[in-house]
Amino acid sequence: MFFMEAFVTRRERFSAAHRIFRKEWDTETNKEMFGLCSNPNWHGHNYELFVTVKGEIKPETGFVVNIKQLSKIIREYVIDKIDHKNMNTEVDFMEGRLASTENLAVAIWNELEQPVNRLGKKLHCIKIKETENNFVEYYGQ
Ligand code: NI
Repeated sequence: MFFMEAFVTRRERFSAAHRIFRKEWDTETNKEMFGLCSNPNWHGHNYELFVTVKGEIKPETGFVVNIKQLSKIIREYVIDKIDHKNMNTEVDFMEGRLASTENLAVAIWNELEQPVNRLGKKLHCIKIKETENNFVEYYGQ
């Protein structure tokens, strides 16, 4: 007997405030490097998060993963912690990181990897859309 593997993606949304800046740089230098995202008085984005897991299609269910369980994990480990928060100051998994979308993707991967493993699945990709035109993908490592 052989198994078919497939990728399943769950989308979740959250809103969060941030500021990308280096405190050792002055406001002008920060603005040059980070643009509007360095605004000293914060600003927010409506983020879209796409979590992709990989696994065998179970013959009994036809599913790779129970999408409700996956959604619950994403809510508990990510959304409940970041939605309507300031990720620079209030979100434990972003502590000490520059609040870029790249760093956010890595931090969310680190939050979700073990809970997804406990479901018997492999995390494949974290994709975050910060704006209509900009998104980041992280595949681990
Ligand atoms: Ni921004």
